Amino acid sequence: MLNNKVVKGFSKLSKEAKIEWITNEYLSGDDQSIKLLKSYWHEDAKVQKVHDEFIENTITNFYIPFGVAPNFLINGQVYCIPMAIEESSVVAAAAKNASFWMKRGGFKSKVISTTKIGHVHFAWYGDFKVLKEFIESIKSKFFEETKELTKNMNSRGGGILDIKVLDRSDLEPNYYQLQGKFETCDAMGANFINSLLEKFSKILERELQASNLEEREKKIVIIMCILSNYTPECIVRCEVNCNVDELSDDPELDSNEFAKKFQQAIHVANIEPYRATTHNKGIFNGIDAVVIATGNDFRAVEACGHTYASKTGQYRSLSNVEIKNGKFKFWIDLPIAVGTVGGLTSLHPMVKFSHQLLGNPNAKKLMEIIAAAGLAQNFGALRSLVTTGIQKGHMKMHLLNILNQLGATKIEIKKIKDHFNDKVVEHSAVVNLFHELRKVNQENIITK
Ligand code: MEV
Repeated sequence: MLNNKVVKGFSKLSKEAKIEWITNEYLSGDDQSIKLLKSYWHEDAKVQKVHDEFIENTITNFYIPFGVAPNFLINGQVYCIPMAIEESSVVAAAAKNASFWMKRGGFKSKVISTTKIGHVHFAWYGDFKVLKEFIESIKSKFFEETKELTKNMNSRGGGILDIKVLDRSDLEPNYYQLQGKFETCDAMGANFINSLLEKFSKILERELQASNLEEREKKIVIIMCILSNYTPECIVRCEVNCNVDELSDDPELDSNEFAKKFQQAIHVANIEPYRATTHNKGIFNGIDAVVIATGNDFRAVEACGHTYASKTGQYRSLSNVEIKNGKFKFWIDLPIAVGTVGGLTSLHPMVKFSHQLLGNPNAKKLMEIIAAAGLAQNFGALRSLVTTGIQKGHMKMHLLNILNQLGATKIEIKKIKDHFNDKVVEHSAVVNLFHELRKVNQENIITK
């Protein structure tokens, strides 16, 4: 049953009216909610307008912290990497592991390929050989008739790389694809590719109609035209390496033992999807944070990475390790489709700032930086997991969140932080200590 909270023409209401409607209908007209929403508006109305117009029905902004991880030595250049993320330990881990690898030669990142892919998905009724020959015969039209759309991209060195028809009737009777491969240079390329695919479908429909094929072969049902966010030909490889005996910077940690356990951890992530999922999630802690800070589509990058992790038919670790002749090599191959032009890159002031901070990289350089952030994050997580356990560092960073939730004062925060300096932070222990301190304080006030 629908309740009466249904609204028509909501998107046409002003921002104020939208907020009023929401608070009246869902929050019993609560003034505090209105104040809260408005307190997150940017003080500069022009900046706020930019944010309002990114999406429909904007009522306010949603903050997540924007931090930086300095000391990232990547291909001989030092970067201070911007990261937008809410999870307490991620930036700390990135910074710590960047410094660790800086002393060991830094990250070596290299883009291997940059090809993007898209498809016209369609149903057709005939012999695939006939279809293939037909598409070959009209192939030049796809290039010729999209010249207006590809002109700018061509001038930047990109454009349509290849078009071919694929027989997918093994998956579904009569299912075929017109597959396009594209180079989109510094753009992520979604709009470019989708516009081209839609044009391809029109050409295909028209040419089939006009052909002298049999009547049944002239019939085509275009199912959809869309780029694929799976980009296994848009790959960056990032590596760190050192002598095994340089791996430990802690006198209590034996480098050889650590290397062995690290290798076992990767092996477990390779054979066990339950572990692989968490392992790769840790990699995306680093990747997503940079992807968001640089105004790119983290959903696309994540989806792609997870499909790539399943390319053997089983979901596995995205990172790899090799220990050979006393050398430790740890690397990741990642498909990352990002842009440094278009989209939010020139609109969102903080995104612009991120690009400036990174020296306004082109898309390839940004891929290299993002991969390094992912690899550093994974190294840090595995290092903790196979040595101290993850909770030590994680909860240390989370301590302030717990204290803020409890409403601890500055003095209480200092006391509790000092107490946990040499101990593993546990939620209940923090809460108990906080209440103990409060009780003692109260008693002191009462007895005074
Ligand atoms: C937490 O956000 C990420 C980790 O769980 C990653 C991992 O287990 O490898 C620590």
